[in-house]
Amino acid sequence: MHQDIERILLTEAQIKDRINQLGKELTADYAGKEPVFVGVLKGVVVFYADMVRAFDDHCQMDFMWISSYHGTQSSGSICVKQDVKSDLRGRHVVILEDILDTGRSLQFVVQHLKDKGAASVRICTLLDKPEGRAPGIDLRADYVGFSIPNEFVVGYGLDYNEKYRNLPYVGILKPCVYEK
Ligand code: XMP
Ligand code: MG
Repeated sequence: MHQDIERILLTEAQIKDRINQLGKELTADYAGKEPVFVGVLKGVVVFYADMVRAFDDHCQMDFMWISSYHGTQSSGSICVKQDVKSDLRGRHVVILEDILDTGRSLQFVVQHLKDKGAASVRICTLLDKPEGRAPGIDLRADYVGFSIPNEFVVGYGLDYNEKYRNLPYVGILKPCVYEK
């Protein structure tokens, strides 16, 4: 698995430090609010587990499973495969996401959760590709782990054809991997 990686973009230690910082920020910003962390499956699982443990106060956990991506190209169409289970009316929601790219997924998720009556909806993403935003989508995350260049990345939950999610770092694949 590791031999398929051309370059490590973010090391395990860098990710850990940044998540601890984000945890402190979120803990301060959501004091007394008992936020609901909604994770967007599946890419978020690794970040989610670390992020909620860096949040040092009461919170609730929920998940959504949407489908929007195939291989390295965004298909543009989004469907809900599994919806949140909690009643979000009047709740403060923080969406946890692995990566914000075109913005289509999160634009959809934000509206979907607002429609459920959330008091507030904010976005916390591990990675942001600011150059990836689709025309007409002006979406910004409230909390960003790292802004990265417009390159396809894997690891720390992110996959290529369902592989590499379990890499403990974020990296770029060797071009030959795509030719297989
Ligand atoms: P959008 O384009 O909707 O994308 O903002 C968000 C979702 O697209 C996937 N994505 C990636 N997955 N490496 C991946 O493994 C990438 O570089 C990448 N860029 C986008 C991801 O599922 C994310 O939730
Ligand atoms: Mg995802």
